[in-house]
Amino acid sequence: MHFYFRRRFLLLRNFSLRNSLQILSSTPHPTGILRTTKRSFCIPKVQSVAAMSTVTENLGSLKQQLEKLFGESLRVTVPDELDVPPIITPCKDLKHGDYQCNNAMSLFAKIKGKVPEFKKPQSVGEAIKNNVPKSDMIENCTIAGPGYVNITLSRQWMAERIHKMLADGIQTWAPKLPVQRAVVDFSSPNIAKEMHVGHLRSTIIGDTLARMLEFSNVEVLRRNHVGDWGTQFGMLIEYLFEQNQNWEAAPTEAIGDLQEFYKQSKTKFDEDSGFKERAQKAVVSLQGGEEKYRKAWAQICEISRKEFDKVYERLDIKLEEKGESFYNPYIPKALELLSKENLIEESEGARVIFVGGIKRPLIVVKKDGGYNYASTDLAALWYRLNEEKAEWIIYVTDVGQREHFEMFFAAARLAGWLPAEDKYPKVSHVGFGLVLGEDGKRFRTRSTEVVKLVDLLDEAKNRCKEALVERGKAQEWTGEELEQTAEAIGYGAVKYADLKNNRLTNYTFNFDQMLNDKGNTAVYLLYAHARICSIIRKSGKDIEELKKVGTLDLAHPSERVLGLHLLQFPEVVEEAVTNLLPNILCEYLYNLSEDFTTFYTNCQVVGSAEETSRLLLCEATALVIRKCFYLLGIKPVYKI
Ligand code: ARG
Repeated sequence: MHFYFRRRFLLLRNFSLRNSLQILSSTPHPTGILRTTKRSFCIPKVQSVAAMSTVTENLGSLKQQLEKLFGESLRVTVPDELDVPPIITPCKDLKHGDYQCNNAMSLFAKIKGKVPEFKKPQSVGEAIKNNVPKSDMIENCTIAGPGYVNITLSRQWMAERIHKMLADGIQTWAPKLPVQRAVVDFSSPNIAKEMHVGHLRSTIIGDTLARMLEFSNVEVLRRNHVGDWGTQFGMLIEYLFEQNQNWEAAPTEAIGDLQEFYKQSKTKFDEDSGFKERAQKAVVSLQGGEEKYRKAWAQICEISRKEFDKVYERLDIKLEEKGESFYNPYIPKALELLSKENLIEESEGARVIFVGGIKRPLIVVKKDGGYNYASTDLAALWYRLNEEKAEWIIYVTDVGQREHFEMFFAAARLAGWLPAEDKYPKVSHVGFGLVLGEDGKRFRTRSTEVVKLVDLLDEAKNRCKEALVERGKAQEWTGEELEQTAEAIGYGAVKYADLKNNRLTNYTFNFDQMLNDKGNTAVYLLYAHARICSIIRKSGKDIEELKKVGTLDLAHPSERVLGLHLLQFPEVVEEAVTNLLPNILCEYLYNLSEDFTTFYTNCQVVGSAEETSRLLLCEATALVIRKCFYLLGIKPVYKI
């Protein structure tokens, strides 16, 4: 039972945030954002939740449906109190009920003396309970302690909901979010520099967040904000020109290994002052748009892009590159807008913005007149808000960059580009901790070089392949099946090991741990899913047919527990995406597989009187597990 406590505690934590999101969904945007632009941009509209429902019916999560019912009850119970948001949480102990309504106490404190029939919190709870509109959803309610209303859901209703999802598809269980368009800025490595494990974390976490938003019917602009603009290009271009006069004929060969090329040019830059000067001039020529320089720059970017794409392809990550250079033309305009708000001042030769609370200013124009990371990010933010009309802009980088984000967010708020923090359009920095090696230090290979990502993924895959071969799969499967399964498990394991921890904590990269088939790993979960599929296969029944003619019941306590867990999927995704915490979904998935094991231990499936119903429950579990995999970017396997 200890799992339930843990999980319920988890679900309890953030209800207030979610509530406020729901309230926000009907709040219009402030108009401040438009003030500073010449063109008549329109404010991104936030649609009401009702208007956002997809073609298929979507009633909202269990929690949202209960909130609706109890919201109505509250309006009848205390008609003079305007907009009391219902407080609904899952019960910590399933013995008491499935959910509870916790409004009585705080409401009593508010109305004490004003309404004579409410003498104590219990009587408020009693009234809330009695005023709940009749619904098929609720079996019964009881009052506990100082007025908590414990809610037990109707078993039949639960079974029907699950059956309906089987018929209509899991998209009908998509959460409803109060935004229509979001930018997820993730991965974002720097051209010519190493794409390191930090970028791997950003890639994995960002992709999951994008997938969860997309599942919630939000249009996501997946942005690769690559570092493709900056002083390092002067050095690279000059080095290229000097090394190989004929580079244009075969640029790929002229550059060779880009990392190596970067290192060599950096050494020359540090050691040779003449070269340093020429490199600095090259930056000016590049930024001035000189043809030859632009060409070389484009070539270097292209070579780098091909390297990055190898990682994205392996991990099945879709990204649209809009690098720093893209926003360059927007910088003067963005700075002008900030200037008009009197935010920019002169400091030690540079132009800076002081934001409250932080001593150090945000430098937006360097001493030499050049732009930097912050000026680009300000221009990109302006573009995303006004041109792309994004309502939520999410940046995924290591926590080390938190201050940078806090500062330019604050500057944008001072300029009126963004409303107060809890309103939309909204910006969020999704920070994450370091990847550590087993020695507890930053993850590096023996040669103290940073680890090449492709090698890392290769190793994960190869280890999985070896394990499969050891288990005799090379004889059983085709070569392609073996490859695909090894990839699914290997890459899935790397992703899950990253996502299962709270992203802010550092995590230790350990192949043995992540590839263990016991414990909370992708390997264990992929096996669990394959086992469910094999139960269904071995029954010899046509599951599509059973969906049409069969019925589902949740008679056994372990069936009911599993059913409830399945039904909580939408609110868990909503919680994970609202708080930008993929580990919430991982925890849900792990607990789901545990609930399934308990069910399977206690309830015979194939050959039992309840076979049809139980096979349908198996199928629903497999579907939800697969959706979790999908959202975490893990490919399922069907046999193992
Ligand atoms: N290129 C940066 C780095 O490697 C990450 C960029 C993140 N996105 C942004 N809009 N600042 O650290």
